Amino acid sequence: MTAALGPIEALRETRADVGCISPEMRYSLAVLSVSGIQFDYGSWAVLNGLEMQVDSGQVLAISGESGSGKSTLLHILAGLIRPDAGAVELDGARIDDLSERRRAAIRLRRFGFVFQFGDLLPELTIAENVSLPLRLMGRSRKESMNSAKEVLAELGIGELAERGLAEVSGGQMQRAALARALIHDPSVVLADEPTGSLDPDASATVLDALLRAAHDHELAVVLVTHDSTVADRCDRRTLLRGGRLVQQRSRQSQPG
Ligand SMILES: Nc1ncnc2c1ncn2[C@@H]1O[C@H](COP(=O)(O)OP(=O)(O)OP(=O)(O)O)[C@@H](O)[C@H]1O
Ligand SMILES: [Mg+2]
Repeated sequence: MTAALGPIEALRETRADVGCISPEMRYSLAVLSVSGIQFDYGSWAVLNGLEMQVDSGQVLAISGESGSGKSTLLHILAGLIRPDAGAVELDGARIDDLSERRRAAIRLRRFGFVFQFGDLLPELTIAENVSLPLRLMGRSRKESMNSAKEVLAELGIGELAERGLAEVSGGQMQRAALARALIHDPSVVLADEPTGSLDPDASATVLDALLRAAHDHELAVVLVTHDSTVADRCDRRTLLRGGRLVQQRSRQSQPG
């Protein structure tokens, strides 16, 4: 068995897998593409032949009943669990069948995550939390903290950099969680109910920031939400039902 690699060695290994697509090809492909995804718990098919594509600069909303498999799908996209059948491709290269080590390296380098309750670490300041992905990628504390302050400022909360989690509102915390998801310039952001714990005003502010970031930085975003006001502002809306995604309708988002 190979010895476990640190994040930097793992990243070097990964570049060979994901860095071989030319910029021209990149824009001709969906950033994230899944086909024929099957995932069963025992005899129950949670995901059943699911197809999905997300382009750069596009926010795809996924809604669906509780237990329909939305979080399971995000875990498969992130390579945290493997589908029983089907394929997940990033920039046209299959990633679901790579080793755990390579999937972890791709996750660190190419994906950003936002969760319902932010999942920031209470013992760190906002800027320290936001800087974590860069620290994990081996960047110096100074460089990481400078980048953290820049991305916090871009999201309109630069003044919160030195505060602790207890000193910010829920909406500010979610924007900080978004900053952490964006700091390493990922290709894909996976967001599981990022506005689920917020009131409508705070929810709109976080969504504005996410839509603007997706469009400005050409991110492919998969956003799980129960909130039709949120889903309605995304570029594409889908419903997860019977283990598949059903397109609801398309519209241009309008970051406020
Ligand atoms: N480890 C597990 N073992 C067995 N069944 C599981 C396991 N994890 C999840 N499930 C089941 O798989 C189904 C899909 O779960 P998932 O968490 O993906 O749903 P969801 O759509 O995200 O729901 P919610 O909206 O409540 O977050 C659920 O019915 C759940 O009970
Ligand atoms: Mg869920």
